[in-house]
Amino acid sequence: MLKVLEHPLITHKLTQLRRKETETKDFRYNLSEIAALMAYEITRDLPMKETDVVTPMGKCRTRELTGTVVLIPVLRAGLGMVEGITNLIPDAKVGHIGMYRDHETLKPITYYSKLPDNLADSVVMVLDPMLATGGSATAAIQALKDSGAKKIKLVCIIGAPEGVRRIEEDHPDVQIYLAGLDERLNEIGYIVPGLGDAGDRLFGTK
Ligand code: PRP
Ligand code: URA
Repeated sequence: MLKVLEHPLITHKLTQLRRKETETKDFRYNLSEIAALMAYEITRDLPMKETDVVTPMGKCRTRELTGTVVLIPVLRAGLGMVEGITNLIPDAKVGHIGMYRDHETLKPITYYSKLPDNLADSVVMVLDPMLATGGSATAAIQALKDSGAKKIKLVCIIGAPEGVRRIEEDHPDVQIYLAGLDERLNEIGYIVPGLGDAGDRLFGTK
């Protein structure tokens, strides 16, 4: 299940991310803002409960959020999406999965994992700007399912058709959200046209 969020504000900010002249500070800012704008859509079905409040004018039967949201940034680049979403969901818990792609095989290598308890009762959102081959995302999702997670959303900025297909095949129960769906992968597994190496651009490491 794929949803591409093509709101003008999201697409405009994604254009800034794609531009090769965009520097670290602006890349970081725009990535965080896109994540915040995407949050509006990805939280559309969060559970709510009935509640009573008293306004200055009298009693009101209304609704408020219930349950736990867990954000799982995939290190490194997923970290750039956390703040934009926690600004809107301040109670969200944050777990971390550290992964990098082996440059030869493109297979993900997991080097770190720290997850909150009670994933089974939470809405779990995996955050990673790039969905290329889909190897990292499928491994992260599997690790979360192995730890009990049942309701999982995958939130990426740019996806390649290959990565989308991989997640749809491996995890048909997971809703995928993208800000842009690109043409293809190149011979070294980078998304074309994409935006380059998200981790390096976010942290200024190249
Ligand atoms: C990037 C990106 C994803 C992964 C996507 O991370 O942030 O995690 O590649 O590729 P895939 O869909 O083919 O698995 P990278 O391996 O560059 O690690 P880094 O963020 O630590 O640089
Ligand atoms: N990881 C990135 O950072 N960029 C790509 O295009 C593919 C994987």
